[in-house]
Amino acid sequence: MSTGIPKKRVAVLISGRGSNMGALIEAAKDAGYPAEIVTVIANKADAGGLDTARKQGIHAQAIPHRDYAAKQRHEAAVSEALRAARADIVCLAGYMRLLSPEFAREWEGKMINIHPSLLPLFRGLHTHDQALEAGVRVHGCTVHFVTAGMDEGPIIAQTAVPVKTGDTAETLAERVLSVEHETYARALALVATGQALMQNGRTVFRD
Ligand code: GAR
Repeated sequence: MSTGIPKKRVAVLISGRGSNMGALIEAAKDAGYPAEIVTVIANKADAGGLDTARKQGIHAQAIPHRDYAAKQRHEAAVSEALRAARADIVCLAGYMRLLSPEFAREWEGKMINIHPSLLPLFRGLHTHDQALEAGVRVHGCTVHFVTAGMDEGPIIAQTAVPVKTGDTAETLAERVLSVEHETYARALALVATGQALMQNGRTVFRD
């Protein structure tokens, strides 16, 4: 059912297959969901998620970082595309670029990311290998506001999954991914409704 409240305009940034992007597109099909996906931007021309988005009738474009001599130039082009799309919220969904502090600051409070670990554990890459190496018995995913520090921003939502005997990085990745999609859709809804917002470097939750 429609709420009559204008939906927040969301841009999704991807680098690959875009299964989280797909989950956000699915969630946004619900008339009562507080956000609409207005554009998808990939930093790679061959990102599989671009086609998935286009097939759903969503505007999708590649802004390949390789076409730009400097990171700042590429980020300026991405920012320009985000402004052109009148994006209220930016969702990083498997966007495998380290962001400059300037870009992170420009979108602070409006940009969120999904990371495949229970932050602050296991920042960076190969999080499932890191979890197996550490011997933790629970693992999971985190959606957080993006700040200048990599995988450091204030947390909006997390979901835990068990680590099972005999798990490999692949089986664990699959189990985590199966909860990422719902977690991301839930976190985006919290931000879009203003029930979760970033204030003074922390997430504040409101009813
Ligand atoms: C997801 O597991 C996401 O959490 C991870 O990349 C994968 C993208 O999959 N993101 C990061 O590692 C960011 N540091 P998807 O393209 O199918 O959504």
